[in-house]
Amino acid sequence: MSDLKERVTAALATVQDPEIHRPITELGMVRDVAVDAGAVTVTVALTVSGCPLREKIVADVTAAVEQVPGVASVAVELDVMTDEQRTDLRKRLKGGGEERTVPFAEPASLTRVYCVASAKGGVGKSSVTANLAAALARRGLSVGVLDADIYGHSIPRALGVRTMPVQVDRMIIPPVGHGVKVISMGMFTEKNAPVLWRGPMLHRALEQFLVDVFWGDLDVLLVDMPPGTGDVQITLAQMLPNAESLVVTTPHLAAAEVAERAGTVALQTKQRIVGVVENMAWAELPDGSRWEPFGSGGGAQVAATLTAELGYEVPLLGRIPIDPGIGLGADEGVPLVLGDEGAAASVLRTVGDWVADRPRGLAGRRLALDMS
Ligand SMILES: Nc1ncnc2c1ncn2[C@@H]1O[C@H](COP(=O)(O)OP(=O)(O)O)[C@@H](O)[C@H]1O
Ligand SMILES: [Mg+2]
Repeated sequence: MSDLKERVTAALATVQDPEIHRPITELGMVRDVAVDAGAVTVTVALTVSGCPLREKIVADVTAAVEQVPGVASVAVELDVMTDEQRTDLRKRLKGGGEERTVPFAEPASLTRVYCVASAKGGVGKSSVTANLAAALARRGLSVGVLDADIYGHSIPRALGVRTMPVQVDRMIIPPVGHGVKVISMGMFTEKNAPVLWRGPMLHRALEQFLVDVFWGDLDVLLVDMPPGTGDVQITLAQMLPNAESLVVTTPHLAAAEVAERAGTVALQTKQRIVGVVENMAWAELPDGSRWEPFGSGGGAQVAATLTAELGYEVPLLGRIPIDPGIGLGADEGVPLVLGDEGAAASVLRTVGDWVADRPRGLAGRRLALDMS
């Protein structure tokens, strides 16, 4: 009998918590396994009582245990973790300490952090962020997106995320869409109501997103920035001294101005600009020719100006054409890169490949700066 119990326990180790994405055995969620002849009763402690994915856990546990030879029937009983158990779980996942540190700012962190920035809104920052994230996740990288755009927060929808983060103790578990962990300012405001975030509030919110969110070991964290230069840029530069930025522009924006603003932020925050993406570069006409309604050369000009201004090579990583599929994909929650073979998806994938293949050496890392 104890042999059967062992086999059942081994089978339970293959069941993952649908939110935390770790085996339930590892998370201390399996409270009891009772075996009576072939009848197995498993008691599972949920992280929170309103756990929205309880049915999935029951189904997964049942399916896993049913497979075990010698099992005749499976019953799953649900319980809820106590506060102490939740604290234990948080410590187990977040490394135990009580100190509130930003994991990505640790010298040993292997996560590459990219702030997707632009001088103005509406140039396609969120579209680029969502598509890059999905492309990277599909390549097998562990990816997170922090939507720091307090004015926009369109990221959750674009990545098909419909659920809210779950809180365990003071750890926030981000929902996942297309393999991407997503946290957005919009998830913490009443019915997505526009909020006037004041400086200190904004600072606290961003700190929580970086410190208390259970991101796990990410390969890449993309930060969808609000447009321009402001509190969020400064706060994030302080909290993420190793972050680099990708500048998104359209061909018609006054290139010199875009470059000047991006360059000023980079110099002030000591963040490296790794490249420029030109969006809405052209539209393909039915006869196959290209129409450039917004002019051309803006992206190349921004890259060249930044290269001269910053004293290191800032490449133009890609020119994304106008493709209504970008907006449609965002509405449907399926980023264009995941399905389409057209030019826009292909350029986005190429930029994703460039990001994925960038070595993550320590070269170019900055020391934390104090701008207070
Ligand atoms: N290459 C593109 N082709 C067509 N529409 C685009 C393209 N890039 C972005 N859009 C659309 O333009 C609008 C603004 O894009 P968005 O990504 O929200 O910009 P930002 O985050 O910079 O404000 C959205 O409606 C989006 O669907
Ligand atoms: Mg946006």
